Amino acid sequence: MMHFSQVVLVPGDPILGLMEAFRADPRPGKLDLGVGVYKDPQGITPVLASVKQAERRLLASETSKSYIGGHGDPLFAQRLTQLVLATDSPLIATQRAAATQTPGGTGALRLAADFIGHCLPGKGIWLSDPTWPIHQTLFAEAGLAVNHYPYVNADNCLDVEALLETLGRVPHGDVVLLHACCHNPSGFDLSQADWRRVLAVVQARELLPLIDFAYQGFGDGLEADAWAVRLFAETLPEVLITSSCSKNFGLYRERTGALIVCASSLERLSAVRSQLALIARNLWSTPPAHGAAVVAQILEDVELKNLWITEVDAMRQRIAALRLGLLEALAPHGLAERFAHLATQRGMFSYTGLSPAQVLRLREDSGVYLVGDGRANVAGLAEARLGDLARALAQVCN
Ligand SMILES: Cc1ncc(COP(=O)(O)O)c(C=O)c1O
Repeated sequence: MMHFSQVVLVPGDPILGLMEAFRADPRPGKLDLGVGVYKDPQGITPVLASVKQAERRLLASETSKSYIGGHGDPLFAQRLTQLVLATDSPLIATQRAAATQTPGGTGALRLAADFIGHCLPGKGIWLSDPTWPIHQTLFAEAGLAVNHYPYVNADNCLDVEALLETLGRVPHGDVVLLHACCHNPSGFDLSQADWRRVLAVVQARELLPLIDFAYQGFGDGLEADAWAVRLFAETLPEVLITSSCSKNFGLYRERTGALIVCASSLERLSAVRSQLALIARNLWSTPPAHGAAVVAQILEDVELKNLWITEVDAMRQRIAALRLGLLEALAPHGLAERFAHLATQRGMFSYTGLSPAQVLRLREDSGVYLVGDGRANVAGLAEARLGDLARALAQVCN
């Protein structure tokens, strides 16, 4: 009997597939704006100097490779919670918030999804349209009913009114996933006034917010980017936050993240955490140690932390400069207005508003690789190539 004969071949992840297609493309002038990683001017996704220093210290001081507990490294959990909620957060002072270490932000999302499915049955989840495609598949895989609220309109603009209108009709008590900053894929973020309006609807409909915080430091700064997360955590009795260290610590492959739970009391928090440990035990048993140990070292040491903040600031400022540089390069082609959103969008991505056919033409004619929905990873650009990209865009837009 051929057991595997019934297994059908499925297409791979489109973004990872794009990476492979890019590698196989022999054209020297090709440009990869697909997968969401930061690249330096040499096109390299660097190991941060703060990470290298922390790793050297760990290598010298580490005494065991024994398992870490189900919630992961306690120092990492404590320091990351402080980074997200603020060191002087009233939730930390009253023991109403704690982190469970997970394999990256994806692991945190999966843990949250299974927690909702197991412990809060019947709740649907509401995702922005568009959103990071894995949100869609991950929550569906966990058995949750997945719904959408509008986020970007047909003119490629943030549509807050449509968002609020739909959230106002969400069944009482459902879960709403919100991007804390640097919305993926659009790059459009809510203003503080918008966030307050979303909060009011969340309160009125008693929704449970699940805030995806994958880009702290890449929008307006490490503190500024946490503004909405902190507003929600301090106003609402219960909030779930998924935090990723992939981008801001450059630890992508080390799979470092956490699910932070904010609850109304220590007793409720402990009950939720007991469930999380149980669910995690059946998913990955205990989380990988190295990335979290690096983050803990950095956040624990004033000198290393300051170096890391400088590095995050530099990455953010460079991405912002690339956005403006591309806009300048597009101006001589008469495309400054068409791409004006580049300047207001935040984070690594820009929703270009290009159609799938234009994205395909860009790839075939110019070797420029974008995700099919028109998302461009601005953080993958090199200053020296802005002119080439502007010319390629002009070819498909004009
Ligand atoms: C919106 C969003 N959430 C979560 C993640 C997960 O990040 P990771 O699992 O690499 O930490 C990503 C990564 O691209 C993302 O864009």
